[in-house]
Amino acid sequence: MSISESPHDMRSKAGDDLEESLLKRALSGNIPVHVGIVMDGNGRWAVSRGMKRSEGHRAGVESLKRCLPALLRLGIRFCTFYVFSTENWKRPREEVQFLMDLILEYAKEDRSDFIRQGIRVIPIGRWREMPRQVVQALSRLAMDTASGDKLTVLLAVNYGGRQEIVDAAKELAISYVGREKELQAAGEEEFRQFLYEPSAPDVDLVIRTSGEMRLSNFLLWRAAYAELVFLDVLWPDFGPVDLYKSIIEYQGRERRFGDVGRE
Ligand code: FPP
Repeated sequence: MSISESPHDMRSKAGDDLEESLLKRALSGNIPVHVGIVMDGNGRWAVSRGMKRSEGHRAGVESLKRCLPALLRLGIRFCTFYVFSTENWKRPREEVQFLMDLILEYAKEDRSDFIRQGIRVIPIGRWREMPRQVVQALSRLAMDTASGDKLTVLLAVNYGGRQEIVDAAKELAISYVGREKELQAAGEEEFRQFLYEPSAPDVDLVIRTSGEMRLSNFLLWRAAYAELVFLDVLWPDFGPVDLYKSIIEYQGRERRFGDVGRE
């Protein structure tokens, strides 16, 4: 293996064939419009290799990058990645600092790749409370990719699902001041307009890696009827094959939205 080659570059013909056949199968079914991904297991991936947890996060960024062409090939319109939760501040200071630097680096260095691939990037969450440089880089990334029309990537940064609902409730209350009658009539559709990035529809599928089976405050409102797929793969090992398998698993589920099944 040359120094520039990663194990992922050394894919075998059999691996390529598997990937292509899974893609073909996924494309013959119903493609979810909005997928959410909880990228879990970076730390365990690194520690199991005798590396520092931060190296797991760096490898996690590479996984995210590998996913983008696969999302495009599937024709998925929206994908939300859980990058940094409102609870992640509890981690050791050096790890938080490393994640900030990584987000900054990624937002700056991958800008042209996003533009080239027609990907629009939108940060969601209380990301404006992040360090100034991170806020600037994310704002610039969003601005420079605004015309991307193939896929919208939502980066959940300093994001919490409960916080999103609280923030939406406050905005809604402010916007209805003096209009109490209309407030009484407001329902889910009116409320939805105040979520972070209201153009993003409900989430059809949430994928979580690393074997953990919980939502961890991710997209609580929009994932109300999402199908959940939990994989025993650590995020840095996740690739297009895992994504295609998850889509196929989703296609095998019967979504009833509270209705009864049809014979
Ligand atoms: C969970 O793994 C992952 C995170 C808290 C951060 C997710 C971040 C990345 C994939 C990299 C940063 C992404 C960008 C876009 C810059 P964990 O640390 O909880 O793993 P563990 O459960 O094994 O400890």
